[in-house]
Amino acid sequence: TLTKAEKAAVVAIWGKIAAQADALGTESLERLFSSYPQTKTYFPHFDLSQGSAQLHGHGSKVLGAIGEAVKNIDNITGALATLSELHAYILRVDPVNFKLLSHCILCSVAGLFPNDFTPEVHAAWDKFLSQISSVLTEKYR
Ligand code: HEM
Repeated sequence: TLTKAEKAAVVAIWGKIAAQADALGTESLERLFSSYPQTKTYFPHFDLSQGSAQLHGHGSKVLGAIGEAVKNIDNITGALATLSELHAYILRVDPVNFKLLSHCILCSVAGLFPNDFTPEVHAAWDKFLSQISSVLTEKYR
């Protein structure tokens, strides 16, 4: 679990990210689908071309959920319970994909906020995203 200092680092940078959450979500998905094209198989019903409305809408939803996790950083499991059931029971997303998406989100944060992305912030965000991924994949077992 995240230390007090790590939680503080996540909350602090989220203060900056929040205003650009939609753009960050869209960029993260663009990175995901171009670097790891196999992930596109979960979205056969989407127009995944760069700048598409669906890409933007989904990026906004994903970052919205991350924002909820930031707001409930002491109870991420509770905050994401419904999404956890959706990904496990209905979408059946293979857990490996969460690492790929987390990596892409991290790259996007680094790119958009280069001055804030210190090694400490990097480590805290990495841990935070991996905690979100565990919550979203824990129902599989
Ligand atoms: C749907 C969040 C990882 C595939 C969603 C939704 C959210 C979300 C908020 C919309 C739920 C709704 O409409 O009620 C997240 C978060 C993730 C994550 C926070 C990890 C940080 C992934 C991964 C994949 C994936 C790794 C597959 C590569 C999908 C699909 C949908 C979905 C296929 C349904 C899209 C649709 O038909 O509208 N996710 N997700 N998710 N997610 Fe995820």
